[in-house]
Amino acid sequence: MSDTQTDQVLKIAVIPGDGTGPEVTDEAMKVLRAVAELEGITYETELLDWGGERYLRTGEIIPEGGLDHLRSFDAIFLGAVGHPDVPPGVLEKGLLLEIRFQLDQYINLRPVKLYPGVETPLKDKGPEDIDFVVVRENTEDLYCGTGGFLKKGTPDEVAVQTALFTRKGCERCIRWAFEYTRRRNNPKGKRLTLVAKTNVLTYGHDLWWRTFQEVAREYPDVEADYNHVDACCMWMVKNPEYYDVIVTTNMFGDIITDLGAILQGGMGVAAGGNINPDPGGTSMFEPMGGSAPKYTGQGVINPIAAIGAMAMLLEHSGYPKAAQRVMNAIQYVTGNKMKSQAAGRMGYSTSQVGDLVVEAL
Ligand code: IPM
Ligand code: MN
Repeated sequence: MSDTQTDQVLKIAVIPGDGTGPEVTDEAMKVLRAVAELEGITYETELLDWGGERYLRTGEIIPEGGLDHLRSFDAIFLGAVGHPDVPPGVLEKGLLLEIRFQLDQYINLRPVKLYPGVETPLKDKGPEDIDFVVVRENTEDLYCGTGGFLKKGTPDEVAVQTALFTRKGCERCIRWAFEYTRRRNNPKGKRLTLVAKTNVLTYGHDLWWRTFQEVAREYPDVEADYNHVDACCMWMVKNPEYYDVIVTTNMFGDIITDLGAILQGGMGVAAGGNINPDPGGTSMFEPMGGSAPKYTGQGVINPIAAIGAMAMLLEHSGYPKAAQRVMNAIQYVTGNKMKSQAAGRMGYSTSQVGDLVVEAL
């Protein structure tokens, strides 16, 4: 794939979602409009009103035929899910996880990169130290929703929640991570660290461990490394520069990527991609921060994560030059303009930050 695909139309489904989702989505779209013009990219968007408001109005999260409709796009941009009037889990499971699972977006790609000018809580660490990528498996583990209750509501209640791992599921993720590490081609050396808990999860993570060792033999140019997840949390704080690419299971990946997000300046900055790398697969890109209901409509939320998610969308849709241009603009703005990455303390409104990125393009 290359930037020479200018004869094609990039079809993007846009789900602004709940809370501040629409505000940050507007800025990502503004940047897309500008970079598409500069790079000669032809694109089409379709706005989908899925999320909490629609659910409360209609009782429906994804409308009939909605998933098939999504499959007809090249990519999906998602603002945020989560509504204060909808019980926890309903929209997460019914929208976000449903799309990840049904579209088989088996890679959750989460770069942990400290941009210039952005404050990290780590003492004496800078952009050259905090620059790694987490490849999180995105369709298995505790997220598969297997389990149940026995004697619910009684003092003898039992709850079972099962983590599910398959050879196919871990192998495709591990192989993709090796390929990605190879492509990333870190000048400091190519290293892929498996993060798991083989000393306790002696079935599921044994499968991961054995598969990792086997696949590693096909990539002699990549150092195949292993950390227990608890030690990884310690090293991410103490020596983040150690990491190049991490590959990990869904649940641990969820947890360590929030740690990663705070190292890179918080939820206002962190972006991720839910990727189906198979031919014809549709991937979804999103800022990692939630819907932040308390900031809704005030124009104070940071759109940098959403703009970063748009850069990832461009990169993975075959427009790496446009993606790099957006990434450079983001880093110019964080390095030279913004006071802080925290909501309400940026020194600019949400839409002004979007304008600054457009100017910097
Ligand atoms: C994330 C989120 C989701 C997850 C929630 C909203 C279901 O925390 O994307 O990391 O756990 O995967
Ligand atoms: Mn999470």
